[in-house]
Amino acid sequence: MPSVTRTTEGKIAVLTMNAPPVNALGTDLRAGIGEEFALALNDPEISAIVLTGSDRAFSAGADVREFGTDKAVAEPRLKTLESMIEGANKPVVAAISGVALGGGLELALSCHARVAAPTARLGLPEVNLGLLPGAGGTVRLPRLVGAIRAAEIIIAGKPLPAAAAHEAGIADEIAEDPVAAAVTLATELAIKGKPTPVIEREDKIADFDTDAFEAARPGLLKKSRGALAPARIADCVFAACTRPPQEALAFEEEAFKELVTGSQHRALKHVFFAERQARKVPGVPDPKEAAEIASVGIIGSGLMGGGIAMVFANAGIPVTIIDVAEDSLAKGRRMIETNYQRSVDRGSIPQEKMDRSLYLITGTTDYEGLGETDLVIEAVFENMELKQDIFGRLDQVTRPEAILASNTSSLDIDQIASATSRPEKVIGAHFFSPANVMKLLEVVKGTKTSPETIGAIFAIAQRIAKVPVLAGNCDGFIGNRMLQYYTAEAEYLLEEGATPEQVDRVAEGFGMAMGPLAMRDLSGMDTSIRIREIRRKTMPADERMAEVVERLVEAGRIGQKSGKGYYRYEGRKRIPDPETTRIIEELSASLGIERREIPDEEVRDRLFMPLVNEGAKELEEGIALRAGDIDTVWVNGYGFPAHRGGPMFWGQEVGLDRVAATAERLAEKNGQRWAPSQLMVRLATEGKSWDQA
Ligand code: 3HC
Repeated sequence: MPSVTRTTEGKIAVLTMNAPPVNALGTDLRAGIGEEFALALNDPEISAIVLTGSDRAFSAGADVREFGTDKAVAEPRLKTLESMIEGANKPVVAAISGVALGGGLELALSCHARVAAPTARLGLPEVNLGLLPGAGGTVRLPRLVGAIRAAEIIIAGKPLPAAAAHEAGIADEIAEDPVAAAVTLATELAIKGKPTPVIEREDKIADFDTDAFEAARPGLLKKSRGALAPARIADCVFAACTRPPQEALAFEEEAFKELVTGSQHRALKHVFFAERQARKVPGVPDPKEAAEIASVGIIGSGLMGGGIAMVFANAGIPVTIIDVAEDSLAKGRRMIETNYQRSVDRGSIPQEKMDRSLYLITGTTDYEGLGETDLVIEAVFENMELKQDIFGRLDQVTRPEAILASNTSSLDIDQIASATSRPEKVIGAHFFSPANVMKLLEVVKGTKTSPETIGAIFAIAQRIAKVPVLAGNCDGFIGNRMLQYYTAEAEYLLEEGATPEQVDRVAEGFGMAMGPLAMRDLSGMDTSIRIREIRRKTMPADERMAEVVERLVEAGRIGQKSGKGYYRYEGRKRIPDPETTRIIEELSASLGIERREIPDEEVRDRLFMPLVNEGAKELEEGIALRAGDIDTVWVNGYGFPAHRGGPMFWGQEVGLDRVAATAERLAEKNGQRWAPSQLMVRLATEGKSWDQA
């Protein structure tokens, strides 16, 4: 099938892009568009052109796989096609179904009008790949929506639903059948004459105010966390509004070239493809063939259970929540309602969506209420006896085909499964808190979990818009197993001379959403004391757990909820506290540690390199299938900066030999558990990457 097909409706040529699955604008498709346009433009029987794609995608943009190869710059380039369309002597209308993203939307912006289906999504998400729109998006979008709004849209990188795109002025019309509506519009325009091309429109930028734009800049870049693209996007939008269009296009092209050859783009491209690869598990049936999950039960109406319930209800799946008492259920229900109300107040969901979701969530204290459910997720606190008791009961009351999942973040799935007569249907489904926000779903496979059960969870993950990653069954699975090293080293650094401010500043400067100590203050230290006690007893003999947390808790500093922890708090604002410094200094003295200035680079290496080392051990043991899976876990579940590609990608960038050398030093200091992974040492010696393991 050719990459572009042509049909005619009267005097209108309808050109349909046909490069499955998502009409990425690779060389073939670009060539097809160029050829068919040339024919239609030269055809005297044709008076106007409609450009369209498939139901799934008008176009997902430039073909990311081509970046860095000659193909990306082979003619016709996207910009060549845009000039051809924009300068055509016949009107061109884009008919958009599915997504119009990146270069796909840029192509549509060069058309004389855009008609979108109500379910379409339009956006310029290049920033998520460490890029900016490089085919005129930063020049044309401000001409439709104004400078600051354009910068907001491009920097957020979040596609707009059709209605919002229409309201903003990006789509001219919304129609159930966009091709039919585009044909009608094209016919009208052929008679009336073409509207002014977007690139020549000035009305939205005529009163561009340099000062107002500069004043808005810090707000626009607030969430950048070290990413380079957002600032360059702001520069391009500024140029678009202050220079002639051709100069602005050239400025944009230069900025694009700079980013596309940079390390952040490489990292983010890795994250994009790693996430997609993580969905593919060898030996597990295709999601399309998985058993359908039409209803879900959740055990526990606490923070986690409530969040998980929202996730399913949001996807239109009925949920039954079980708790021990009516008042717990009522409390859980109130929490869910408050969360939804907040989203409605913020304008992120309409009231009808809240009503519909709440309607789908019911609560009961009776396990019999789960008789017909396809999947039950247990989300009670971490206690093996309690979980086994629950799974034993679930085994009795649910249909034999039902899948029983635990939201445990570290307990043994096999032990939980042993309480049932169907271990092949028992699995870990580790959601991250807040479950209705965090995208990661760690799917934990027990020894007997069947491929069909895994496949069903992966399939439902897609429906509820989560990013699933398969993990083996071990203490802490992929993410929390690694996390222990990060948080432990943060404490050792304090004992040796660092301050909480330094540790968090370095972590946040690296790009973490929040430093490890501020994070601990947020979650509260009182609850972790119990877990730490248990861990102390099972620790290897050559290891010692730091005692900063214990000392702080003794001093009544349990974190934000008590107004002080590592820091003192005024509301949510954290303020360094000399009392913390005194407590830590006393601890160092009692341990006979001579405190010293620790360079930031050492802090960074000691925080992040142990993650890489433990990740390598997970690969060795088969707990994680691929290094990219580990990166996917950390970027989506732990606030690891995507522009660094995840810990494994980052480790490779800084050099596995350096990571191994740090592990060597930490093992001497902290114990053999910290020693370098053999796999990593081998790869470092052979100069190989994770993919060549
Ligand atoms: N280039 C190359 N491949 C792409 C692609 C792209 N732009 N977009 C998607 N794909 C591939 C995916 O890798 C996947 O391949 P696989 O089946 O081999 O794993 C396949 O298409 C289907 O994609 P998804 O599995 O992601 O399907 P979904 O339905 O979940 O999502 C999507 C579809 C919303 C289009 C999502 O893939 C997406 O967000 N794509 C990226 C969009 C993007 O960032 N566009 C900008 C590109 S940069 C650009 O245009 C530069 C320009 O300004 C010059």
